Amino acid sequence: MSDLSTIRSEALGAVSAAADLAALDAARVAVLGKKGSVTGLTKTLGAMAPEQRREFGAKVNELKSEVEAALEVRKGTLSSSALAAKLVSEKVDVSLPTRPEGQGSLHPIGQVMDEVAAIFGEMGFTWADGPDIEDDWHNFTALNIPPDHPARQMQDTFYLPSRADGTPVVLRTHTSPVQARTMLNKNVQKRLADGGSLRIIVPGRTYRIDSDATHTPMFHQVEGLVIDRATHMGHLKGCLVDFCRAFFEVDDLPLRFRPSYFPFTEPSAEVDIGCSWKDGELRIGAGDSWLEILGSGMVHPNVIRNCGLDPAIYQGFAFGMGIDRIAMLKYGIPDLRSFFDSDLRWLRHYGFSALEWPSLTGGLGR
Ligand code: PHE
Repeated sequence: MSDLSTIRSEALGAVSAAADLAALDAARVAVLGKKGSVTGLTKTLGAMAPEQRREFGAKVNELKSEVEAALEVRKGTLSSSALAAKLVSEKVDVSLPTRPEGQGSLHPIGQVMDEVAAIFGEMGFTWADGPDIEDDWHNFTALNIPPDHPARQMQDTFYLPSRADGTPVVLRTHTSPVQARTMLNKNVQKRLADGGSLRIIVPGRTYRIDSDATHTPMFHQVEGLVIDRATHMGHLKGCLVDFCRAFFEVDDLPLRFRPSYFPFTEPSAEVDIGCSWKDGELRIGAGDSWLEILGSGMVHPNVIRNCGLDPAIYQGFAFGMGIDRIAMLKYGIPDLRSFFDSDLRWLRHYGFSALEWPSLTGGLGR
């Protein structure tokens, strides 16, 4: 019996003396573990007479519960003091200044697309998209460039393996196939039949086999298309003059419309903006030089017909502009290839704040 009371006082003593959770667990193992002191007592029961075993067994069980309860209480005390100690040692000083964080910036291509969209958005254009992997019909045939037409050679095309049904496929060489995709859209055709108009811009990626300081195999264009019953060449001119003056932020920027040829427009014009060179530096505005920035024209009746509309009723204009090129001109970026190098130092220098959306009232390129 004295054995029992010694074990009891030792066990309870060890529990209350445990200074932290690890020591408490060691005390638990020493008492209730496989080789623990109380566990040892239960092992002696087998050798006892039944009467004695019942009596002693009940006492051992009582002791076990008592020790378990003491462990539980001590554990509660120790964990709350551990938490309190942690709260004290890990105090956060909210008055300290924040650590400087790297801020992302917008790539000039994305910025210029947003600027272009802001300007044309004010003129009632909406943004349209099409696939980069385009079928030969949308990229060429619909646009009045039939198979074997020499104009197919003007665009150094990446051809892809044909689709399972034999459809020839290319990486689109321009954004013009989206003209066809949009005119063919049934909702658009219904809107036109109801007397409405179609005005879209198509900023996106385009591909040609070409690579030097002013050409990359992947580049960007923005297409424009207006179709209704009355839009004429005067609207084309006015629209592009307004756009270029707003985009380059030069109010009296001179534009030159040069007769040109595209299979999908008639008449066609290439558009140059005025500029001058001083000490090797380019200045956009009135001067003695010209820079070509886009192709344009009145949509060819064959294109309108190919897209399911009657050219006797509908007409309009289209244009296509190199986004990379106008970005280089506006922001003085000397090498086109640097756009696609993903050099963080370059991006920090030429990038734009992601939080300032270009607008005609707030300012475009800030
Ligand atoms: N798609 C032509 C090109 O890539 C540009 C263009 C578009 C010309 C629309 C006229 C009308 O060169």
